[in-house]
Amino acid sequence: MASSRGEFSSRFGFVMAAAGSAVGLGNIWGFPTQAASNGGAAFLLVYLVLAFTLAYPALMAELIIGRHAHANAVNALRMVSSAPISRNIGATVGIIGFIVASLILSFYAIVAGWMIAFCLSSLAQLFGMQDFAQWLVSFGMPRNILFMCAFMVMTVAIISAGVRDGIERWSARLMPLLLVTLVLLVLYVFTLDGAMEGLKVYLLPDFDRALSPKLIIAAMGSAFFSLSLGVGTMLIYGSYISDEENLPVVGGLVTLVDISIAVLAGFLVLPAMYVALHNGVEIYTATGALISEDTLIFTVLPELFKTMGLAGIVVSFTFFFLMAIAALTSSISMLEVPVAYVIEEHGLGRKLAVCTIGAAIAVTSATILLNFETLFGLVIAFTTRYSQPLLGFMFCIYAGWVWHRDKVLQEVRKGSPEVEHSLFWKIWPGYVRFVCPVIILAIFAQSLWG
Ligand code: TRP
Repeated sequence: MASSRGEFSSRFGFVMAAAGSAVGLGNIWGFPTQAASNGGAAFLLVYLVLAFTLAYPALMAELIIGRHAHANAVNALRMVSSAPISRNIGATVGIIGFIVASLILSFYAIVAGWMIAFCLSSLAQLFGMQDFAQWLVSFGMPRNILFMCAFMVMTVAIISAGVRDGIERWSARLMPLLLVTLVLLVLYVFTLDGAMEGLKVYLLPDFDRALSPKLIIAAMGSAFFSLSLGVGTMLIYGSYISDEENLPVVGGLVTLVDISIAVLAGFLVLPAMYVALHNGVEIYTATGALISEDTLIFTVLPELFKTMGLAGIVVSFTFFFLMAIAALTSSISMLEVPVAYVIEEHGLGRKLAVCTIGAAIAVTSATILLNFETLFGLVIAFTTRYSQPLLGFMFCIYAGWVWHRDKVLQEVRKGSPEVEHSLFWKIWPGYVRFVCPVIILAIFAQSLWG
């Protein structure tokens, strides 16, 4: 059954695909700016602790359930339950997961479309097409819809080629390219005046800020978003791993790559902001906080590139190219969630399923664009602030409580026969039963009422 539904061909292929999913706009954009405005290295420390103690165990829950079931989340959660009620709740969680994954993709495609437009704008500038370059970076409906659709078409093209020829092949090509581009950009920015000041802000810890509840909530949200948790993405990727693979190790590798790229991106974005300051670009808001989020990416950095002449055009192209790649290896993992469900549950052919769902998501994105002020922030908050932690909580409950411990062990043992005596097996089961659910709920409650 496993081979007829697609399987990653190698450990490298899986790690690239799962790390490709994890490494996205969240790492290169979200993490560095949050670190900058939340206590620098102290945020980094909190993030690292949460990533390993909370996100890694939750990631393992999804990978193990997925590999056991070799099926989409709806079937998988059903499969690990024995009582009718937990089967039904499991299927419901799976269905909500694929709706949330589709909604995440619908706002992600909008932002990714902007990245492509900014990337092309640098090219247009290079060829002296100033008006076109300006059009590409101006917030207009035709541009927004056009590039959102272009991005969706790329995502659809990769996913319709399947697990090996689509997801694995493209992740294995794009991820090394992403890493090389990122390292080149970091090295270049380090040579510019002002970079060292940014480095200080990034690396000097301010513990007063790092231990505030607001920051811990932000760090948990970041860690969950960054590891693509809670919507069944990692579960479905897990379902394509071969039974011979050592799950705790590959899960650990994916977590490590994800964190390393986020940390590396910090070495790019923070120094770049202070280079911008050095070149006369405003990087603080009226309240004295560092500019972050969309203003940083779409205003501060482009202004910095402008002060750098021809080199700025090349750097700008490279930077937005990097963002677009990061977005693409993530968006394919989002689209695979509803696609796998529809193929397996309703027997549709892959191409038909991919095109239908891709079109439905593009229509949702267009609706968000047409009601941008009201819908954009709302969809982001609904999916990432509320749905992801709650669904992540449910996956932990299924791995820790609903599924029998001996069966879980049997599954993990497949690729690592000695696992029973490992540190992983001493810690993880208790962790996913007690620590993860309690911490997720506590932080979630704090975010609602704190
Ligand atoms: N992890 C990706 C990022 O950091 C985004 C992502 C991919 C994602 N798949 C997901 C987020 C599933 C939530 C759920 O940008």
